[in-house]
Amino acid sequence: MSKEERILVTGSSGLIGSEVCTYFAEQGYRVHGVDNNQRAVFFGPQGDTRWNQQRLERELPSFVHHELDIRDRNGVLALLNEIRPGVIVHAAAQPSHDRAATIPFDDFDTNAGGTLNMLEAARRSCPESPFIYLSTNKVYGDGPNRISLVELETRWDYADPQYAEGIPETFSIDQSVHSLFGASKVAGDVMVQEYGRYFQMPTCCLRGGCLTGPNHSGVELHGFLSYLVRCNLERREYRIFGYSGKQVRDNIHSRDVARFIHAFAEAPRVGEVYNLGGGKANACSILEAFALVERLTGEPQISRYVDDNRIGDHICYYSDLRKMRAHYPRWDLTVTLEQTVAQIVDAWQQKLVS
Ligand SMILES: NC(=O)c1ccc[n+]([C@@H]2O[C@H](COP(=O)([O-])OP(=O)(O)OC[C@H]3O[C@@H](n4cnc5c(N)ncnc54)[C@H](O)[C@@H]3O)[C@@H](O)[C@H]2O)c1
Repeated sequence: MSKEERILVTGSSGLIGSEVCTYFAEQGYRVHGVDNNQRAVFFGPQGDTRWNQQRLERELPSFVHHELDIRDRNGVLALLNEIRPGVIVHAAAQPSHDRAATIPFDDFDTNAGGTLNMLEAARRSCPESPFIYLSTNKVYGDGPNRISLVELETRWDYADPQYAEGIPETFSIDQSVHSLFGASKVAGDVMVQEYGRYFQMPTCCLRGGCLTGPNHSGVELHGFLSYLVRCNLERREYRIFGYSGKQVRDNIHSRDVARFIHAFAEAPRVGEVYNLGGGKANACSILEAFALVERLTGEPQISRYVDDNRIGDHICYYSDLRKMRAHYPRWDLTVTLEQTVAQIVDAWQQKLVS
């Protein structure tokens, strides 16, 4: 099999990694997944992703699982040297900004050190292969909170017309509160750009808004829509942290993330950065998400308001998708927010019964 037909995906048992594995397997790729179920260490049994690894092993004949910690530098160097993949998608991470403050070494070693291990291994073994890094909108820190806002009945929105389409990639990542997670992701993000510009490698950073879908092992500290649906179905209390529950997130289905990654891999650029989210059309506040989920399940959401926002949390964030659409005109969103939430409801209904 030629090198171009092999993809290596880190974080393959997670939401994005597993979707990328499935999508590329459908395109005929041999898929190598790297995951050590660290999500269960970060978040406890509720964050366990073994079920997703087993699902991939069951459903994808071309899938090979590698039980490897991306912090293991020699292990990463050896694996990339052995596989020499034609595409690399780096989605393994400590993904929660709240969790990072209690595990700063694990967070930085995973998000910054692990990314460096992947980049250097790629440079040594397959420098011409597209390298796609899942970054985050937290690289902008709480800078977006300085934009003037308007408070509407169920959400905040930008009052400044400059941001009518959302936050562009030119927004400053500097001099704001990021959370330790945001800072460790910035380190990875800048390294990915640097390996592009300095070594002319085809790298890109995807600065995600809320990436979601039916395969998320949502927990309170990460995966808000998935966790919110789970709370609704289990009649559990969902805690709203500050901003009157009107904080806005833009939500993109993991399938549309995988489709963009494929578009980039087919026509890569060097050291690029894209803001990747559901955009204005798929943005909602927590209060609006409650209403949407209630409509689908018929169950009222049980919630408690905690009058204290999460440190560095965005009041209103949605991605300006114009750069992605300009560079990759054949890509666009295909799953609406309503469809995404309906799929998450279905998935939890099935998982909670079994
Ligand atoms: N889901 C979102 O809303 C969102 C938003 C913005 C950015 N992102 C980024 O996208 C990427 C994927 O996010 P996700 O939602 O799929 O997260 P996830 O937690 O569902 O998946 C990450 C996977 O990486 C694995 N992992 C963690 N540390 C590892 C290590 N040291 N070695 C090997 N495997 C390890 C975990 O076990 C997990 O299966 C992350 O980089 C995250 O920061 C996600």
